[in-house]
Amino acid sequence: MRLATVFILTLLLSGCTDDDQPVKDPYAFETPSNFPSPVYTFENNPVSKRGVELGQMLFYDPVLSLDSSIACANCHQQAVAFSDPVHRFSRGVDDAAGFRNAPAIQNMAFQNNFFWDGGVKHLDFVPINAVTSKIEMAETLEHVVYKLNRSSFYPQKFKAAFGGDEITSQQMLYALSQFMNLMISANAKYDKYVRGDEHLTAEEAEGLELFENKCRVCHATDLFTDDSFRNNGLDASFEKDSGRERITEFEGDRGKFKVPGLRNVALTSPYMHDGRFNTLQQVLDHYASNVKNSETLDPVLKQGESLGIRLSEQEKLKLIAFLNTLSDNEFTHDKRFANPFVK
Ligand code: HEC
Ligand code: HEC
Repeated sequence: MRLATVFILTLLLSGCTDDDQPVKDPYAFETPSNFPSPVYTFENNPVSKRGVELGQMLFYDPVLSLDSSIACANCHQQAVAFSDPVHRFSRGVDDAAGFRNAPAIQNMAFQNNFFWDGGVKHLDFVPINAVTSKIEMAETLEHVVYKLNRSSFYPQKFKAAFGGDEITSQQMLYALSQFMNLMISANAKYDKYVRGDEHLTAEEAEGLELFENKCRVCHATDLFTDDSFRNNGLDASFEKDSGRERITEFEGDRGKFKVPGLRNVALTSPYMHDGRFNTLQQVLDHYASNVKNSETLDPVLKQGESLGIRLSEQEKLKLIAFLNTLSDNEFTHDKRFANPFVK
């Protein structure tokens, strides 16, 4: 009896399961086998448990906003892969209306361009935009750091994560990046299929084949984006939002937007940079019959005289069945990413 207990304890302490597999450190960054290599600069800011947990607190803490009314998590909700299920255009402090739809946050360590127009080139800089934007949190970095230094618990948490006696804005940005870097979604039914652990239904498999032929050019790799900017024919003119042109001031970029990754896409409605579509059916109706011509329309969607992607109603249903296999229930329920202030 005794001996058995000791044996089990030793097993647990040595970090081994009965298959002799080392127990995974839930706070170690690991690239899923079907993903490309990460691009984040981990050499400056490695992921650590303390850093991630601190980032988690900051992400859910409205202290980052001017009047303590809005946290990152207001616009980026875990249940829907950290997108915004309610607002077509995001809403910030004082209910200020933004002009874009809040994208999902997932697999950020693999991404080179942030925001729909690629206005930010490094994950560490994203929160600066969010905190200081008048239509988001309307604060200043200096004042947020001042408030954090005054708090009853943050100084000690920052010290434990980064050392030093005073919280700096860089430490705050690093903690948020560590948290977002760990937010990897790679356990959807699709991933289990790719790794040979699960089968797709006939409909899902046919949907995948259609996807490979008609969508993968742009929604490439298992991140489902080629990280490029393209015009997928939503509009013929771009007065409201010229997309990538706002950043490059190059006419040839007018109306181009970042190709979004499609993980958890069944959960992240509304769709497109302006949230104009509520359902995947509407998205596919767009590609099949509403693609609009313009100077910058992507050549893939302009084959001779015909615009868009030819899709029958049945093919649309198969594609939707496939897109549903990208939902990752583990990601949307992962306690490491949940609100740490509600126990
Ligand atoms: C008021 C709503 C709102 C708040 C608050 C907010 N965001 Fe966002 N977030 C957005 C919108 C809208 C975009 C897209 C902006 C654009 O494309 O111009 C975005 C984009 C992002 C992106 C880029 C995702 C991608 O794939 O390009 C990240 C990362 C992000 N936010 C993280 C954060 C963090 C961290 C915070 C808190 C410090 C935060 N957000 C606060 C609305 C919000
Ligand atoms: C020519 C490149 C291209 C092709 C081909 C393409 N897409 Fe897209 N897709 C985009 C771009 C760019 C966007 C974002 C456009 C915007 O918001 O202005 C997008 C957006 C989407 C969205 C919205 C995602 C979100 O988070 O809002 C879905 C869903 C989608 N595409 C599915 C598909 C499917 C399914 C196919 C194949 C039938 C397909 N796409 C083919 C470039 C493409």
